Amino acid sequence: MMRDLNRFFKPQSVAIVGASRNPAKVGHVILKNLIDGGFKGGIFPVNPEADNILGLRVYTSLLKIEEVVDLAVISVPSEIVLDVIEDCKKKKIKDVLIITSGFGEIGNVELEKKLKTKLDAYGINCIGVNCLGVFDAYHNFDTLFLPRYRLTRPKPGGISFICQSGAIGSAILDIASTSGYKFSKFVSYGNATQIDESDLLEYLENDETTKVVCLYVEGIKNGEKFFQALSKVTLKKPVIVLKGGLTDDGKRATMSHTGSLAGDSAVFFGVLEQTNAIRANSLEEMFHIAALVEKGVQFGSNKLQIITNGGGYGILSTDSIASSKHIKLATLSSNSINEIKKFAPKYMNVGNPLDLLGDATTERYKRAIEVCISDSGVDGLMVIALYQTPLLTTEIVEIISEAHNNSKKPIIVVSTGGEFTDLLSRSLRERGLPVFSYPDEAITALDKLIAYQLRNPKPTKVIDKKELKSGQEIKKVKIKIVKKNVKTKKK
Ligand code: COA
Repeated sequence: MMRDLNRFFKPQSVAIVGASRNPAKVGHVILKNLIDGGFKGGIFPVNPEADNILGLRVYTSLLKIEEVVDLAVISVPSEIVLDVIEDCKKKKIKDVLIITSGFGEIGNVELEKKLKTKLDAYGINCIGVNCLGVFDAYHNFDTLFLPRYRLTRPKPGGISFICQSGAIGSAILDIASTSGYKFSKFVSYGNATQIDESDLLEYLENDETTKVVCLYVEGIKNGEKFFQALSKVTLKKPVIVLKGGLTDDGKRATMSHTGSLAGDSAVFFGVLEQTNAIRANSLEEMFHIAALVEKGVQFGSNKLQIITNGGGYGILSTDSIASSKHIKLATLSSNSINEIKKFAPKYMNVGNPLDLLGDATTERYKRAIEVCISDSGVDGLMVIALYQTPLLTTEIVEIISEAHNNSKKPIIVVSTGGEFTDLLSRSLRERGLPVFSYPDEAITALDKLIAYQLRNPKPTKVIDKKELKSGQEIKKVKIKIVKKNVKTKKK
């Protein structure tokens, strides 16, 4: 039976059990982040030793709270957790998030078993134990115990990240947010004492603001359930999976981290293949693919035109495309070639890659993009913009984003560089474009996404670009059928 997990992400009221007076303690940071994050519901700190923390009345026990409590976030030592669950039952709290460590992962298996038995018997849903909690960007709901000045919280968007490891989750959330990726939800679920990755996947299947799910997993306790959940969710939206604990040493490490059995990697990858989940080989790759989906990249067909101001980058891109399974170089029509020749300097070759050369101006890019994107033989553009060259102005950001807004064909951008490049790349991401640092990253991610789209027998939801930019909750979705006539290219 599918669990209703709504109160983990959009509760009306939350109790923090173990809200400490000490600013350096976990329970205090959780409370502070909830307040600073702008959560609009009721917040009830619970601590038998305190009266007032951060300006809020403190309750000596959950049972002293008169109002309804939707969710209890538990941050007391493991020995006390079972007693708190008793109070949750009495208070009729149906959802708990247990941050506390010290269970199966350190060999305290019996305590974790007792906890699960209680939770199941009382009909209480539980995320954790040994986890970082959840973050929901659309509801300003932040239970992470990482100070907000140390970890940038992401803006609302379409990526949801389910992560068994709190540390990986938080580090990635931090870097992804500062790079301009936008998230719907983040869940760190630790030991998966009760709610596991499959429950979370099933929940996200119908979550309107989630367009793509990223999953970092160390071990699966119930393979059949995982298979069923993945098979269902991937029909609706892409699920990108990264598995930790592939090597013997890695498997040993997962046992002491989240108490998980890492299992047989070959079987795991077989499941991904059969369920049409996208297998990522690294965290970076996972988010590269997610960025394409988040930005609404939808390839009905697979012929790509490269526009570059660096010849070497054109060659590297061509090599990557040649090694890909599904992407081909587009061939420009003679009409397009003639149009380009009208503004191209005599010393420029016109073809694919279209090398606009090191003296490329913003205007040269503008005209090249206009011609290429209108060519019926081109399904999408890869615009390589190396901002180190002197004649390329910052207006290039406007030019690329205007083309992106005015065309249904996808544009992906590649830019390598330091601070100046980062600035412009972030600006393009803010405007809804996927930006990569290297051509092979872009092509690998695109190739995997196309493979998913080709195998997905169901209509794929395409989010309206305007809705994507608003950062608001997405209500309307257009349905577009992915064309099936695209074959894996013959080698
Ligand atoms: N109900 C509510 N609060 C209670 C309580 C009860 N029954 N009993 C004690 N408390 C209070 C304490 O008085 C304390 O408040 P104070 O500092 O104002 O006195 C507060 O709860 C916390 O209890 P404390 O004993 O100080 O524990 P702690 O904060 O040092 O550690 C955990 C608690 C949960 C943080 C710790 O056990 C733990 O698991 N840490 C690891 C967390 C982690 O890394 N999780 C995985 C992340 S990926």
